[in-house]
Amino acid sequence: MRQHENAGPLDVEALLAQLTPAEKAALTSGAGLWSTVAVERLGLPAVWVSDGPHGLRKVDDADPTGPSMPATCFPTAAALGSSWDQDLLRTVGEALGREARAEQVAVLLGPGVNIKRSPLCGRNFEYLSEDPVLAGELGAAYVQGVQSQGVGTSLKHFAANNQETDRLRVSADVSERALREIYLPAFERVVRQSQPWTIMAAYNRVNGTFATQHGWLLTEVLRGEWGFEGLVVSDWGAVVDRVAALAAGCDLEMPPREGSAADVLEALRTGALTEAVLDVAARRVVSLVNRALPTLAGDHSADLDAHHDLARAIARECAVLLQNRPVTGAGPDQGEAPLLPLGPSASSMLAVIGEFARTPRYQGAGSSLVVPTRVDAALDEIRALAPAGVEVAFAPGFALGDAADDGARVGEAVALATRAETVVLFLGLPAEEESEGFDRRRIDLPEEQLALLRAVAGVNPRVVVVLANGGAVAVDEVARLAPAVLEGWLLGQAGGGAVADLLFGVASPSGRLAETLPLRLADAPSAFSFPGEAGHSVYGEGVFVGYRGYDVASREVAFPFGHGLTYTTFEYSQLRVDVFGAGEDVEVCVACEVRNVGPRAGREVVQVYVGDVEASVARPVRELKAFDKVTLEPGESAIVGFELDARDFSFWSSAAGRWVLEAGEFEVAVGASSRDLRLRERVRLDAVPVLVPLHEESTLIEWATHPVGSRLLREALGDGAAILDDDEHLRGMGTFPLSRLAAFPGLGGVSQDVLRDLVARAGEA
Ligand code: BGC
Repeated sequence: MRQHENAGPLDVEALLAQLTPAEKAALTSGAGLWSTVAVERLGLPAVWVSDGPHGLRKVDDADPTGPSMPATCFPTAAALGSSWDQDLLRTVGEALGREARAEQVAVLLGPGVNIKRSPLCGRNFEYLSEDPVLAGELGAAYVQGVQSQGVGTSLKHFAANNQETDRLRVSADVSERALREIYLPAFERVVRQSQPWTIMAAYNRVNGTFATQHGWLLTEVLRGEWGFEGLVVSDWGAVVDRVAALAAGCDLEMPPREGSAADVLEALRTGALTEAVLDVAARRVVSLVNRALPTLAGDHSADLDAHHDLARAIARECAVLLQNRPVTGAGPDQGEAPLLPLGPSASSMLAVIGEFARTPRYQGAGSSLVVPTRVDAALDEIRALAPAGVEVAFAPGFALGDAADDGARVGEAVALATRAETVVLFLGLPAEEESEGFDRRRIDLPEEQLALLRAVAGVNPRVVVVLANGGAVAVDEVARLAPAVLEGWLLGQAGGGAVADLLFGVASPSGRLAETLPLRLADAPSAFSFPGEAGHSVYGEGVFVGYRGYDVASREVAFPFGHGLTYTTFEYSQLRVDVFGAGEDVEVCVACEVRNVGPRAGREVVQVYVGDVEASVARPVRELKAFDKVTLEPGESAIVGFELDARDFSFWSSAAGRWVLEAGEFEVAVGASSRDLRLRERVRLDAVPVLVPLHEESTLIEWATHPVGSRLLREALGDGAAILDDDEHLRGMGTFPLSRLAAFPGLGGVSQDVLRDLVARAGEA
C-alpha cells in the first residue's frame, strides 16, 4: 500500500513554527537506518532513502540489515564513466528513478563523483573518473535523470573521500588549489547544473576537520559559492559531534546516534547552538519530505524486464576496446583484419575460457550491492549469439576462491585452446580483492590467471581477453599476449549479453577510458603517499592526479585516459579556434570535423584539451575541458563544436585566493584520447593581471613587480629606488621581505613604520 496516499503539500513554515525544539532535534537525526522522522501530530510523514548508485538497494522495513529486494543492477560507475555519454547517464538515472519511486523511495543515495586519486581505492568501481570534468558532466546527467522521476539523489561523498583505508578518521591533507581544481569541481558542476536534492558529507577529515563539521565546505563553498539549495546528509555514521556538524551545515544525521538529540538540546540550553541554526536544518528536512510527497502519493511501477534489456544496451556503451590487432600469421581468409568482431566462420570452434564467463563479476561489494532481478552469464549469451554451426566449448581455467587443482584446470583449458579457432578468455579481479571498506594492495591480475593466459596464448595466437574489474588493473602483459582486449569493468546484471553483442559485432564498442591504465603501480602519481599514515593522507601530487601526473612526468602508460577503439576509424580535420572577448568574459569557440572513414557505423568521443603554454605556476600539460560523443555512419561526417570560458583556462591561485586567467598562449588540442591528439592550435588570451595583495612579509621582488606597490616603494626609497631596476640585485636579494632587508642599509629595506604605512596605502589603492 502506498504510505503517502493522502498526503498533500505541506506548509513548511507553518509546520516549522509548531515544532518543539525536541522535535526539531529529532527530525535532524533521522529514524533508524533508512528513514527520516515522522511528526504525526503535525501530519509530517517520514520518507525513505536507499542506496545507490547503480541499482536500488531497498531493504525490508522489518529487517533493515537483511538482504534488499531485487532490483536492476545497472553497470557500475566505473563502467558508466567509460561511456562518456551524458544522455546514457540520464537514461540510467531515469530508470533508477522509476525503480525507486515504485518502491516508495524518496532519495536514491548516489551518484559518487569522488576522483579516482589512486588505482588502489577499493571503491573506485563506485566512482566515475580521475577527471573532474568527466565525473561532473556524467554525475550531473545522472542526477537530472533520477530527479526527473520525482525522486531525489544524494551526491556523494563530499569531499576528498578518495580512499577506504582509515576512512572514518583519516585526514585528506590537500591544498586548496588541488581541492578547487581536482576534488571539488565535479561536485560543483553537479550542484550548479542539476541541484541534487541532497549531498552526502563524507566520513573523512579534510585538512584536519571532519567533512561533516566542515563549515567552509558545507556552507561557504557549497551554498555560498555554488548556490546549493538542498539538504546535507551525513554519510552513515559520519557525525562525530552533532552540534558542531549542525553549526557547519550538516542538516541530517544518518542514522541517528544515541544522545545526538540530547546533545543538541543541551547546546540550545547553554547557548552553544542557537535555535535559528537548528531551524535551518529542520526546515531543510521538512522541505525534503515536502519535495518527495507528490511522487510518493502517486501509483508507480517499473518494468523490470524492460530495465534488464536497458541494462544490456547501456553496458554495450561502457565496455572499452583497449586493443584489437590482426593476428600475425593468420590464414589468407583472415587477412589483416583485426581479431574482433568475431566473424561467422561456420565450421570453427570457439573456446570460452575463464570462470568469469560462467560466474560473472558484474558489481562491487558494500553499500552499493544490489540483489539483481537476474544475471546473464557471458557464456550463455555467447552460445545464444554464435553463428549456427560454431561450437562453443567452455573450460573454467581457474577457480574463484580455491586455487587447488589449478594445474588440471589450466591443462584442460590449453587442450581446448589447442583445438579452437579462437579463444575468448575471461579474466578479472576476484570479488574479495575490491570492495567498499578497504583498499587494494596491488593492481595486478591474480598470478594464476596470468599463468593461464600465458599457457593459452602459447598454443593459440587468436586470444581475445575480456576483463572484469572495478578498479584499474595492470594490462601490459595481457595486451602483449592477446591481440584483442575488451575492458568490461563491472557491467551490471546484463553485462554478459552486452559482451556477447560486442564480440560478435551486433554492437560496436564505444567506451573510452575514464582513468589511465598505468604500466605499473609505482608510476601512479599518488603511489608514494597513498594511503598515508598515522591518520593523514598527504595529497603530495597536488593537481597532478591521473593523466595530469603521467603527462607531467612524461611517463609511458599502458593505455591513456580517453583511449578506446571501435570497429571503424575516424578522421579529424578543419580545427577552428575562435577567441571572443578577453579576461573573465572570454569565450573560446572550438570546432572540428570528424568523419567515419571505416566500414561500419560507430561512435567517437571527441575530446578537447587545454594547456597553458607558459604559466607562473606549475600546471598540467593538458586538461580535459569538453567532450562530445557522436554517432556516424560509414562515410558520414559531423562538425562538432564546443564553447569554453575563462574558467577553462584558469588555475586556482592560492596566493590570490581566486581563479586566475593569465594572459598568454594556450594550446587547444582535439583528439581521440589524451595522448592521441589529432589537431592542435595555439591561441592568445588577454587578461588583466590579478594582483596579489601586499602585506608585511611581501618580498622586495613582490613590491618591485606590483604596479602600485612599486610606485609607493620608489617614493619611500627616494634615491635608493635604483636598486628596483637592478636585475642582479633582485636576483640575489629579491626574496627578502622588506622588513628584514632593513637590517642591511641601502639594499631596499624600510623600517616597520614605513612598511606598515606602505601596506596600508597599497591596500587602499
Ligand atoms: C557509504 C555510503 C552509503 C551509506 C548508506 C556508507 O557506508 O559510504 O556510500 O550511501 O553507507 O549505505
